[in-house]
Amino acid sequence: CGIVGYIGPKKAVPILIEGLSKLEYRGYDSAGVAIINQGKIQVEKCKGRLAALEERLKNNPIEGSVGIGHTRWATHGEPSDVNSHPHSNKDFTISVVHNGIIENYLKLKEWLMSLGYEFKTETDTEVVPHLIDYFYEGDILKATMQAVSKIEGSYALGIICSKEPDKLIAVRKDSPLIVGKGQGENFIASDIPAVLPYTRDVYLLDNREIAVLTKDNVEFYTLEGLKINKEIFHVTWDAASAEKGGYEHFMIKEIHEQPKAIKDTMTSRIMMDVDEVKLDDIKLTKEDLESISKIYIVACGTAYHAGIVGKYVIERLAKIPVEVDVASEFRYRNPLINKNTLMIVVSQSGETADTLAALRLAKEHGARVIAITNVVGSSVAREADDVLYTWAGPEIAVASTKAYVTQLIAMYIIALYLGRLNGNLSIEEFRLIRDEMLKLPEKAEYLLNQKETIQKFAATHYVHKDMFYIGRGLDFAVALEGALKIKEISYIHAEAYAAGELKHGPIALIDKGVPVIALATQEELFEKMLSNIKEVVARGAHVISFAFEGNDDISKVSDAVVYLPKTLSILAPVLSVIPLQLLAYYTAVERGCDVDKPRNLAKSVTVE
Ligand code: G6P
Repeated sequence: CGIVGYIGPKKAVPILIEGLSKLEYRGYDSAGVAIINQGKIQVEKCKGRLAALEERLKNNPIEGSVGIGHTRWATHGEPSDVNSHPHSNKDFTISVVHNGIIENYLKLKEWLMSLGYEFKTETDTEVVPHLIDYFYEGDILKATMQAVSKIEGSYALGIICSKEPDKLIAVRKDSPLIVGKGQGENFIASDIPAVLPYTRDVYLLDNREIAVLTKDNVEFYTLEGLKINKEIFHVTWDAASAEKGGYEHFMIKEIHEQPKAIKDTMTSRIMMDVDEVKLDDIKLTKEDLESISKIYIVACGTAYHAGIVGKYVIERLAKIPVEVDVASEFRYRNPLINKNTLMIVVSQSGETADTLAALRLAKEHGARVIAITNVVGSSVAREADDVLYTWAGPEIAVASTKAYVTQLIAMYIIALYLGRLNGNLSIEEFRLIRDEMLKLPEKAEYLLNQKETIQKFAATHYVHKDMFYIGRGLDFAVALEGALKIKEISYIHAEAYAAGELKHGPIALIDKGVPVIALATQEELFEKMLSNIKEVVARGAHVISFAFEGNDDISKVSDAVVYLPKTLSILAPVLSVIPLQLLAYYTAVERGCDVDKPRNLAKSVTVE
């Protein structure tokens, strides 16, 4: 989500709208503003793009020069007018915009309801204005401090209070927020581009810091109320690069957001020392699962590749037969579906036409459908029986990166869940996998800092016309995704092969200098992969290998090696795909391609 706020002498609405337009990349399923106008808060908000809000404000203009605004990417509660931000207390004296996820909102909601507070929405955010209302005794700063001390999770909040119309409050933890310092006017925003038309002087709020803005002044406090001095940061870059957080492209920014995306997708579902998967979103019971004889995973593109990993892990941990298919094939081959079928559809956008059609076909035949999607309230989410949301945040680059890793996490979560539910997964193995999963964000972060080998390989091999990606088991699934990435954005012809299949044909294509990307993360198949690498090296290939730290033997047979931080073989895809994404990215940059908008492709394909 994106948030903005303004306090000053000018009309707030146009400034908020302009700011939100710079933040639409952070989410665009609904938008809204709250303005203090003659001592009262007026709110306008609606589902849809920012343009829909602008239209409403044209018909119902709001005066006033203090306000907050929001562009939403739904997490709790589908996109709708009522679930849009800002959210307010009962008598509209306090309004709030929020970016983040309040993890303990259900507990807080129950408590507030027991005190007589009424809730109008399904959002986690709505607890905030009520909480502030509860603590409010004439000092909005103090009430906000008390309210946030009760909140667990992540938040960036913008708050206005009609009883103190000369103040705008901003506070953050784990979600970004900046304060723009103007002349006789001040701003808040999720990201710098929103304030750049007005000022280049900003303060970067740190976690657990709170800012009080008046039109002439900004003061900063800790959540304990201690005053702090903050340095002004002068922005020198242009607006376009600022929107990408200083990165050159959305794709590389999104690649770097993966540790957070992985963590968010696990949040409140698998937790340290908790011996079960918490899946409030899935209502499949033990009895339901007993009747299921087969699982289909159906998806397109990158999501299909996540499905292939899903097959391996569900079969391994839950011991249920799984078939994976691309949606456009599945729907036309009279698949054997009945009420004993469980279908898992995977779709980042939740709107892909073929995936949606496959889902409908399965439902017509009585199957139960679980959707894995990144977009709350999307068609796939609405039509499936159960939904498991990936919390990757909006993905802008056409080539999927952070959505893919969160789809993998969703697959592990489902596999663990099913395995425990039907008793095929022992508690010991569950704990082992859970504990290793919780370490993945940190390991992904570490890996992102090891880019040199990849950059060097890209810089020397970007001229090639063909590339081969090889691997066995789960590595083969990742090889498919790696090859797709390079095809999509650098237009190099790339083929992924199960390494053992090479000698049955494709090895005829290996010639002097052909780049081969070899994945060797599967412990029990490591020696076999070494032999496959030797086979291609003997035919002149240039090999870059990917293996866990400690497997030094591989360097003897490869031209370059990227070592991954050690994890369980079954979890390797989450880490090994990251350097492959980077390889595709740096190769595309070397070739001067349009990385974020590759030719002939679309982010969401809503036609057959
Ligand atoms: C398009 C995109 C791909 C994506 C596929 C499936 O082809 O270019 O990046 O993987 O659609 O999209 P979905 O939104 O269903 O995951």
